[in-house]
Amino acid sequence: MDGLLKGKKGIIFGALNEKSIAWHVALKAFKHGAELVLTNSPVAIRMGSINTLAEITGSKVIPADATSMVDIDKLISESMEIFGGRFDFILHSIGMSPNVRKGIPYENTSYENMLKTFDISALSFHRILQTAYKYDAINEWGSVVALSYVAAQRTLSGYNDMGDAKALLESIARTFGYIYGRDRKVRINTISQSPTATTAGSGIHGFESLIDFSERMSPLGNATAEECADFCVVLFSDLTRKVTMQNLYHDGGFSSMGMSLKAIEQYKKSFEECD
Ligand SMILES: NC(=O)c1ccc[n+]([C@@H]2O[C@H](COP(=O)([O-])OP(=O)(O)OC[C@H]3O[C@@H](n4cnc5c(N)ncnc54)[C@H](O)[C@@H]3O)[C@@H](O)[C@H]2O)c1
Repeated sequence: MDGLLKGKKGIIFGALNEKSIAWHVALKAFKHGAELVLTNSPVAIRMGSINTLAEITGSKVIPADATSMVDIDKLISESMEIFGGRFDFILHSIGMSPNVRKGIPYENTSYENMLKTFDISALSFHRILQTAYKYDAINEWGSVVALSYVAAQRTLSGYNDMGDAKALLESIARTFGYIYGRDRKVRINTISQSPTATTAGSGIHGFESLIDFSERMSPLGNATAEECADFCVVLFSDLTRKVTMQNLYHDGGFSSMGMSLKAIEQYKKSFEECD
């Protein structure tokens, strides 16, 4: 089925390269008829391949560091010029922790790094929503989605301060979801996605084991970036107008599992090797 976003316009944050979840969302949204503005930090635009994506989707690229109020202000106002007024959806697909990147364990975190994690990965969402609210930039029945992870609810070794950042991100979605719903009939949700082999994902300590464990634990298996893009399109479409302030698990069932047969079998093997 195509055309779910026909006539809709939106901003997509966070497409670094073809592995990025945002990359897949842009391709799917374009396929479903949406007009897009793509954005990323200036350094990611230089290092990554967003311009290729812009060519494929016929989109403009506007650089914006998500920690800069000036950049976000410019991004929203320039996007409104490009779109000829209000637009319909936003994808927040941004995450970075200096502690994770430098391998600094949670118990030794530098607070400077931790603040940076929260600023980039969670407060950026507030900043974007606040600026869009100020410009009344989103059409009635518009939709905003941010990408999260189950480490907001459960502790997963190696996820470090990103778990705290995701908890904050999900809380901002609820708090602003109330305000946007009440005042503008705009919905705000987070998607809690399976571990996915992207640049940000692969930076997590023990990521290969995490992705394997979660594959074995999920009755439907891990959700891919492309499947996540399908879910985003549905959430941007008019089929989900009354879904708001939710954290929606897109993880093949992982978040509801305790132990699976596949995981038990693998766990037993480790003892056989010991004997
Ligand atoms: N990969 C996973 O396992 C996984 C699982 C669940 C949720 N997520 C979330 O999905 C989102 C997208 O990540 P991804 O896995 O596609 O990896 P990715 O590395 O492709 O995307 C992360 C993006 O964040 C951008 N970014 C970092 N700092 C920025 C800044 N200051 N300003 C603007 N943009 C900035 C990067 O340039 C990059 O495009 C993130 O929020 C991530 O936490 C990822």
